[in-house]
Amino acid sequence: MSKIKVKTPLVELDGDEMTRIIWKEIKERFIYPYLDITLEYYDLGVEYRDKTEDQVTVDCAHAIIKHGVGVKCATITPNADRVKEFNLKKEWPSPNGTIRSILDGTVFRKPITISNIPPAVKAWKKPIIIGRHAYGDLYKDVEMQIPGPGKVELVYTNTEGKEERLLVHDFKGPGVVMGQHNLDKSIESFAKACFNFALSEKVPLWFATKDTISKKYHARFRAIFDAEAKRREEEMKQAGIYYAYYLIDDAVAQIMKNEGGMLWALMNYDGDVQSDMVASGFGSLGLMTSVLVSPDGKYEFEAAHGTVTRHYRQYQKGEITSTNSVASIFAWTGALHKRGELDGNQELMDFAKRLEKATIDTIESGEMTKDLIPLSTAANKKQLDTFQFMEAIQKRLEK
Ligand SMILES: NC(=O)c1ccc[n+]([C@@H]2O[C@H](COP(=O)([O-])OP(=O)(O)OC[C@H]3O[C@@H](n4cnc5c(N)ncnc54)[C@H](O)[C@@H]3O)[C@@H](O)[C@H]2O)c1
Repeated sequence: MSKIKVKTPLVELDGDEMTRIIWKEIKERFIYPYLDITLEYYDLGVEYRDKTEDQVTVDCAHAIIKHGVGVKCATITPNADRVKEFNLKKEWPSPNGTIRSILDGTVFRKPITISNIPPAVKAWKKPIIIGRHAYGDLYKDVEMQIPGPGKVELVYTNTEGKEERLLVHDFKGPGVVMGQHNLDKSIESFAKACFNFALSEKVPLWFATKDTISKKYHARFRAIFDAEAKRREEEMKQAGIYYAYYLIDDAVAQIMKNEGGMLWALMNYDGDVQSDMVASGFGSLGLMTSVLVSPDGKYEFEAAHGTVTRHYRQYQKGEITSTNSVASIFAWTGALHKRGELDGNQELMDFAKRLEKATIDTIESGEMTKDLIPLSTAANKKQLDTFQFMEAIQKRLEK
C-alpha cells in the first residue's frame, strides 16, 4: 500500500513518562507505516526543556504559528519534587501555559463518545465541548482581609491623573474584599476562537454568564460575544449552526437535559468548574481530548490528561501497565484531520477518520484498557495491556 503524502510539516511536541512511551508506539504503529509526512520534532521532555532553559517550548510555539498545526504529548510541569527528581535548574513553567500565551489561544476540551460507555448523564448522546476563557477574573484577582470598620473603594486613575471612585462597601466590622479584572482584547480573542472552533466543528455555540446580576463585568463579556455573533452571522447561517446566549444557571439546567453536541463557552471560573463536571459525566480522563486554538486559526491538539506517572513507575519496574492511549491517538487524528483540511488533502482526512473508527470499534467490540472496564456495558469485556490495546487497534485499521 502506498503511503499518503502530507505536503506541510506537522509540528510534533514530545513529552514525558508513560505518555512518552505511548507516543513512540503511536508513531510506529499508526503514523510511519501509512503516512509520508515530515514531523518537525521538538522534545518537550522535562530534561531537554531544562537543558535548553525552556527555549524549546518557545521555539515549538513559533513552529505551530509558522505551520498552523501541532500535536503535543503530555508533559511534566515541574514542582519542587520534580526539580529534585530530575536535578533541574528551576521549576520551569507549564509548557501548556507558555504555548497558550504565545498563541494567545483558547483551550477546548472534547470527550470521545463510545456506544458501550454510557455517560453518567442519561440525556447526553453527543460530545459537549467546553471552551474556557483562560485569562483574568478570579485567577488574577487581588484580595484583602478587612480587619474592622472602614471604607473600601474602587479607584480608577486615568493617564491624566483624573480619578473615578466607587464605594465597594462601608464595613462596620471585619470582612473580606476582592478585586477582579479582564481585558477587552482577551475577551475578543476568546470570542473569536469560540466562533472559529464552532464553525470548524460545525456545532452550535452557547455562551453563558450572569449579566442580570453583573451588569457591567459579565455584561461586557456578553456584549463582546454578541458583537462577534453579528460579524459572523452569515458564516454561521451558511454552516447551519447558531449562536445562543443563556444565563449561566439556565445553561447548567438545560445542559443536564440536552443531548449535547454543542460548544459551551464559559468564563474562566465557570469553565474550570463545568469542564470537570462534563469530563466526569462522560466517564474517563483517558477519553478527553483538548485542542488549543488561536484567534487567527492555529491549532495544537493533545490529550487532556497528564503523563500518568503512576503507570510509568510500574513500567519502569518492568510491570505490566494498562494505560488508555485513546486521547493521545485522537490528538494525532485531530491534528492530521486539521492538516488535511488546511491542505485540501481528503485522503489524509479519511485516514484520520479511519484510525478513529478503528479505535472506537476496538472498544465497542469489548477490547479495552483497565480504566474503561468498570464503565463499559459490553457483554464480553477483555482487558488489554497498554501495547496489546494499540496492537488490537492496528489490526482493525489493517482490515
Ligand atoms: N496537559 C499536560 O501536559 C498535563 C496535564 C495534567 C497533568 N500533567 C502532568 O502530568 C503529571 C501527572 O499528573 P497527574 O497524576 O495529576 O495527572 P494524570 O492525568 O497523569 O493522572 C490523573 C489520574 O488519572 C489516571 N489517568 C490519567 N490518564 C490516564 C490514562 N490515559 N489511562 C489510564 N489512567 C489515566 C491516572 O492514573 C491518575 O490516577 C504531572 O507531572 C503533571 O504536571 C500534564
